[in-house]
Amino acid sequence: MNILVTGGTGFIGSHTVVELINNGHNAILMDNLINSSEIVLKRIEKITGIMPTFYKVDMLDKEKLGEIFDKEHIDCVIHFAGLKAVGESVKEPYKYYNNNLCGSLNLIEAMNRHGVKNIIFSSSATVYGKNVIVPITEECPKGECTNPYGWTKSMLEQIFCDIQKADEKWNVVLLRYFNPIGAHPSGLIGEDPNGIPNNLMPFITQVAIGKLKELGIFGNDYDTPDGTGVRDYIHVVDLAKAHVKALKKIEDNSGLSIYNLGTGNGYSVLDVVKSFEKVNGIKIPYSFKPRRAGDIASCYASANKAYSELGWKAEFDIDDMVRDSWNFQKKNPNGYGDQ
Ligand code: NAD
Ligand code: UD1
Repeated sequence: MNILVTGGTGFIGSHTVVELINNGHNAILMDNLINSSEIVLKRIEKITGIMPTFYKVDMLDKEKLGEIFDKEHIDCVIHFAGLKAVGESVKEPYKYYNNNLCGSLNLIEAMNRHGVKNIIFSSSATVYGKNVIVPITEECPKGECTNPYGWTKSMLEQIFCDIQKADEKWNVVLLRYFNPIGAHPSGLIGEDPNGIPNNLMPFITQVAIGKLKELGIFGNDYDTPDGTGVRDYIHVVDLAKAHVKALKKIEDNSGLSIYNLGTGNGYSVLDVVKSFEKVNGIKIPYSFKPRRAGDIASCYASANKAYSELGWKAEFDIDDMVRDSWNFQKKNPNGYGDQ
């Protein structure tokens, strides 16, 4: 298939492009590079032997977006482009609603105009809100989001559902990611956050490399086995492979489909730290801090639906994830900024 990958130079997008190419698809990338680097293209070429077509385009620019559809024959869009920093979204909600919602509406308009009605959308477990019963199944109703970023995901899900309902020619796959970490085993592509990381894994790797002094663990009094927060960490390569499997739903004209993408296993913050120390032989100094606003005790997926309907399940375990996260950080101490 000819697949337009929006946000294709980003963390999850770049790994998905590799898996698409490995499976014989033609990936056409689009990104405005606001949170990624063009160097990723060369890295993708190193891994796959193919330099994908790339358009440096902002999805807020309707005209340029339309030109991609004029030039390329596109069968399906995998839509990763968006801003994703939770804290920033609380401080600058307009920026998030404008970029994520208006950008996606522009995309939908261009797709409609060119008769491209197949989309796979990056959603998040955050749409389930705070009152969840674990393991979370897709039947669990959506809840109140705790931040504007989360609301953009929840609202976009609704928009895609309504569009599909109104026009049966649309095939929409909503993929709700749990906590993607890890990196391609080659160490050529991985996660390269701007500034001090908010998420656990990049924070740990930056402590390991000596950029940050110690990890602050947000809360040790949760109702979990060791008191620290439990999450469903998933290797980004597993996540990427799920997108290739999800194309089956597009080929089958399945209408609307929704899947959780997680391993089905919950690991605490201390489990992740211990695994990192054991696998990589590096001590991670940490201290306990107060709970972080908006965090919940436990969040992990039921991954059964993706397995029964797509034949997809995660293959990598937590030790693989911490090994590959560290491998990327070690080989790219300053991220893509080194090249
Ligand atoms: P990322 O920031 O690495 O990738 C997103 C890409 O979108 C970036 O390369 C950025 O430059 C690009 N982008 C942003 N606004 C754009 C615009 N207006 N026009 C064109 N390109 C634009 O993030 P990621 O971790 O790879 O996440 C990919 C998608 O998955 C995002 O939609 C994110 O919200 C979603 N998601 C991520 C996680 C996670 O933990 N990483 C969890 C759940 C959902
Ligand atoms: C966060 C976002 C979520 C988003 C996801 C991916 C919040 C409340 N949730 O999920 O909306 O989809 O990132 O971008 O921000 N932790 C520490 N110390 C740290 C960092 C994290 O103890 O320095 C703990 C957290 O309290 C949590 C776990 O590690 O228990 C995972 O945190 P994180 O990686 O930020 O992911 P989530 O909070 O699950």
